[in-house]
Amino acid sequence: MKLKGSIFLGILIALFMSACGGGSGEKESKGKFAPPPVAKPLTFEEAQADWKNQKGLGPITHVELGELDPELAKKGSEIYVLKCTACHAPEVEKLGPAPVGVLNRRTPEWVMNMILNPEEMAMKDPIGRGLLMKYNTVMANQGLTQEDARAVLEYFRTL
Ligand code: HEC
Repeated sequence: MKLKGSIFLGILIALFMSACGGGSGEKESKGKFAPPPVAKPLTFEEAQADWKNQKGLGPITHVELGELDPELAKKGSEIYVLKCTACHAPEVEKLGPAPVGVLNRRTPEWVMNMILNPEEMAMKDPIGRGLLMKYNTVMANQGLTQEDARAVLEYFRTL
Protein backbone atom coordinates (compact mmCIF):
# COMPACT_ATOMS: atom_id res chain seq x y z
CA MET A 1 0.00 0.00 0.00
CA LYS A 2 2.76 2.38 0.98
CA LEU A 3 4.59 1.75 -2.32
CA LYS A 4 1.44 2.23 -4.40
CA GLY A 5 0.79 5.50 -2.59
CA SER A 6 4.22 6.90 -3.31
CA ILE A 7 4.05 5.83 -6.96
CA PHE A 8 0.70 7.62 -7.23
CA LEU A 9 2.19 10.71 -5.60
CA GLY A 10 5.19 10.52 -7.93
CA ILE A 11 2.96 10.43 -10.99
CA LEU A 12 0.97 13.39 -9.68
CA ILE A 13 4.14 15.43 -9.15
CA ALA A 14 5.46 14.47 -12.59
CA LEU A 15 2.19 15.49 -14.23
CA PHE A 16 2.12 18.77 -12.35
CA MET A 17 5.71 19.60 -13.29
CA SER A 18 5.31 18.75 -16.95
CA ALA A 19 2.16 20.88 -17.12
CA CYS A 20 3.96 23.89 -15.64
CA GLY A 21 7.26 23.36 -17.43
CA GLY A 22 5.65 22.66 -20.79
CA GLY A 23 3.43 25.70 -20.50
CA SER A 24 6.15 28.17 -19.70
CA GLY A 25 8.52 26.57 -22.24
CA GLU A 26 6.03 27.20 -24.99
CA LYS A 27 5.66 30.81 -24.00
CA GLU A 28 9.42 31.29 -23.97
CA SER A 29 9.96 29.84 -27.43
CA LYS A 30 7.46 32.32 -28.83
CA GLY A 31 8.91 35.21 -26.85
CA LYS A 32 12.37 36.52 -26.28
CA PHE A 33 14.07 33.13 -26.60
CA ALA A 34 12.81 32.47 -30.12
CA PRO A 35 15.88 32.20 -32.39
CA PRO A 36 16.01 34.80 -35.17
CA PRO A 37 15.14 33.48 -38.63
CA VAL A 38 18.27 32.26 -40.43
CA ALA A 39 18.67 32.80 -44.19
CA LYS A 40 18.77 29.44 -45.92
CA PRO A 41 22.19 28.92 -47.50
CA LEU A 42 22.20 28.85 -51.30
CA THR A 43 22.69 25.51 -53.01
CA PHE A 44 25.63 25.07 -55.41
CA GLU A 45 23.31 25.50 -58.40
CA GLU A 46 21.63 28.61 -56.97
CA ALA A 47 24.98 30.19 -56.09
CA GLN A 48 26.43 29.44 -59.53
CA ALA A 49 23.38 30.98 -61.20
CA ASP A 50 23.95 34.05 -58.98
CA TRP A 51 27.75 34.06 -59.54
CA LYS A 52 27.89 37.78 -60.37
CA ASN A 53 26.95 38.54 -56.76
CA GLN A 54 29.15 35.88 -55.18
CA LYS A 55 32.33 37.40 -53.76
CA GLY A 56 33.34 34.46 -51.59
CA LEU A 57 34.76 34.61 -48.07
CA GLY A 58 38.10 36.13 -47.22
CA PRO A 59 40.11 39.33 -47.21
CA ILE A 60 39.02 40.59 -50.67
CA THR A 61 35.82 42.62 -50.85
CA HIS A 62 36.43 44.75 -53.94
CA VAL A 63 38.64 44.43 -57.02
CA GLU A 64 38.78 47.11 -59.68
CA LEU A 65 39.70 45.62 -63.06
CA GLY A 66 41.17 48.28 -65.34
CA GLU A 67 42.92 47.82 -68.67
CA LEU A 68 44.77 44.52 -68.87
CA ASP A 69 48.29 44.95 -67.46
CA PRO A 70 50.59 42.60 -69.44
CA GLU A 71 53.51 43.01 -67.03
CA LEU A 72 51.35 41.99 -64.07
CA ALA A 73 49.86 39.10 -66.06
CA LYS A 74 53.37 37.83 -66.85
CA LYS A 75 54.31 37.95 -63.18
CA GLY A 76 51.06 36.11 -62.43
CA SER A 77 51.80 33.39 -64.97
CA GLU A 78 55.18 32.78 -63.34
CA ILE A 79 53.60 32.45 -59.90
CA TYR A 80 50.94 30.18 -61.37
CA VAL A 81 53.54 27.85 -62.93
CA LEU A 82 55.40 27.60 -59.63
CA LYS A 83 52.49 27.27 -57.22
CA CYS A 84 49.41 26.04 -59.03
CA THR A 85 50.30 23.64 -61.84
CA ALA A 86 50.60 20.66 -59.50
CA CYS A 87 46.80 20.69 -59.50
CA HIS A 88 45.71 22.97 -62.34
CA ALA A 89 46.40 23.00 -66.06
CA PRO A 90 45.17 26.12 -67.88
CA GLU A 91 42.77 24.36 -70.23
CA VAL A 92 42.11 20.84 -68.96
CA GLU A 93 40.80 19.51 -65.69
CA LYS A 94 43.47 18.13 -63.42
CA LEU A 95 42.95 17.77 -59.66
CA GLY A 96 41.05 21.05 -59.85
CA PRO A 97 39.09 22.86 -62.57
CA ALA A 98 40.83 24.50 -65.54
CA PRO A 99 41.09 28.27 -64.98
CA VAL A 100 40.28 29.01 -68.62
CA GLY A 101 37.29 31.36 -68.72
CA VAL A 102 37.11 31.44 -64.92
CA LEU A 103 36.16 35.14 -64.99
CA ASN A 104 33.05 34.25 -66.98
CA ARG A 105 31.79 32.14 -64.09
CA ARG A 106 33.34 33.76 -60.96
CA THR A 107 33.88 37.34 -59.81
CA PRO A 108 37.46 38.65 -59.40
CA GLU A 109 36.84 38.91 -55.66
CA TRP A 110 35.71 35.28 -55.48
CA VAL A 111 38.79 34.10 -57.40
CA MET A 112 41.18 36.00 -55.14
CA ASN A 113 39.43 34.76 -51.99
CA MET A 114 39.64 31.21 -53.34
CA ILE A 115 43.41 31.65 -53.80
CA LEU A 116 43.97 33.34 -50.42
CA ASN A 117 41.44 31.48 -48.27
CA PRO A 118 40.71 28.09 -49.88
CA GLU A 119 40.03 26.20 -46.63
CA GLU A 120 37.19 28.47 -45.48
CA MET A 121 35.86 28.73 -49.03
CA ALA A 122 35.61 24.94 -49.24
CA MET A 123 33.77 24.76 -45.91
CA LYS A 124 31.46 27.77 -45.98
CA ASP A 125 31.10 29.30 -49.44
CA PRO A 126 28.24 27.72 -51.41
CA ILE A 127 30.26 27.49 -54.65
CA GLY A 128 33.42 26.41 -52.79
CA ARG A 129 31.46 23.66 -51.05
CA GLY A 130 29.97 22.47 -54.31
CA LEU A 131 33.40 22.35 -55.94
CA LEU A 132 34.81 20.39 -53.04
CA MET A 133 32.03 17.81 -53.44
CA LYS A 134 32.77 17.63 -57.15
CA TYR A 135 36.58 17.46 -57.07
CA ASN A 136 36.94 15.72 -53.74
CA THR A 137 40.23 17.50 -52.99
CA VAL A 138 40.66 20.54 -50.79
CA MET A 139 42.59 23.20 -52.66
CA ALA A 140 45.89 23.85 -50.90
CA ASN A 141 46.61 27.29 -49.49
CA GLN A 142 49.80 28.25 -51.34
CA GLY A 143 50.48 31.17 -49.01
CA LEU A 144 50.33 33.84 -51.71
CA THR A 145 50.35 37.52 -50.72
CA GLN A 146 47.38 39.61 -51.87
CA GLU A 147 49.73 41.19 -54.44
CA ASP A 148 50.68 37.80 -55.88
CA ALA A 149 47.05 36.67 -55.95
CA ARG A 150 46.18 39.87 -57.83
CA ALA A 151 48.93 39.08 -60.36
CA VAL A 152 47.56 35.55 -60.88
CA LEU A 153 44.11 37.07 -61.38
CA GLU A 154 45.59 39.29 -64.12
CA TYR A 155 47.07 36.19 -65.76
CA PHE A 156 43.65 34.46 -65.59
CA ARG A 157 42.20 37.43 -67.52
CA THR A 158 44.43 36.45 -70.45
CA LEU A 159 43.25 32.82 -70.59
C1 HEC B 1 46.43 20.67 -53.99
C2 HEC B 1 45.94 20.98 -55.30
C3 HEC B 1 45.73 22.43 -55.65
C4 HEC B 1 46.65 23.47 -55.70
C5 HEC B 1 48.14 23.42 -55.38
C6 HEC B 1 45.93 24.63 -56.18
N1 HEC B 1 44.61 24.31 -56.39
FE1 HEC B 1 43.15 25.57 -57.06
N2 HEC B 1 41.76 24.13 -56.83
C7 HEC B 1 42.04 22.83 -56.46
C8 HEC B 1 40.79 22.10 -56.35
C9 HEC B 1 40.66 20.63 -55.97
C10 HEC B 1 39.77 23.01 -56.68
C11 HEC B 1 38.27 22.77 -56.65
C12 HEC B 1 37.74 23.29 -55.31
C13 HEC B 1 38.00 22.34 -54.16
O1 HEC B 1 37.81 21.12 -54.31
O2 HEC B 1 38.39 22.84 -53.08
C14 HEC B 1 40.42 24.27 -56.99
C15 HEC B 1 39.75 25.41 -57.40
C16 HEC B 1 40.36 26.56 -57.82
C17 HEC B 1 39.68 27.70 -58.38
C18 HEC B 1 38.19 27.80 -58.68
C19 HEC B 1 38.01 27.50 -60.14
C20 HEC B 1 36.58 27.50 -60.60
O3 HEC B 1 36.34 27.15 -61.74
O4 HEC B 1 35.71 27.85 -59.82
C21 HEC B 1 40.63 28.64 -58.65
C22 HEC B 1 40.41 30.01 -59.24
C23 HEC B 1 41.90 28.08 -58.25
N3 HEC B 1 41.72 26.82 -57.76
C24 HEC B 1 43.10 28.73 -58.38
C25 HEC B 1 44.30 28.23 -57.90
C26 HEC B 1 45.55 28.99 -57.93
C27 HEC B 1 45.73 30.37 -58.51
C28 HEC B 1 46.51 28.19 -57.37
C29 HEC B 1 47.96 28.53 -57.12
C30 HEC B 1 48.22 29.68 -56.31
C31 HEC B 1 45.86 26.94 -56.98
N4 HEC B 1 44.53 27.00 -57.34
C32 HEC B 1 46.51 25.87 -56.39
C33 HEC B 1 43.26 22.28 -56.20
C34 HEC B 1 44.44 22.99 -56.08
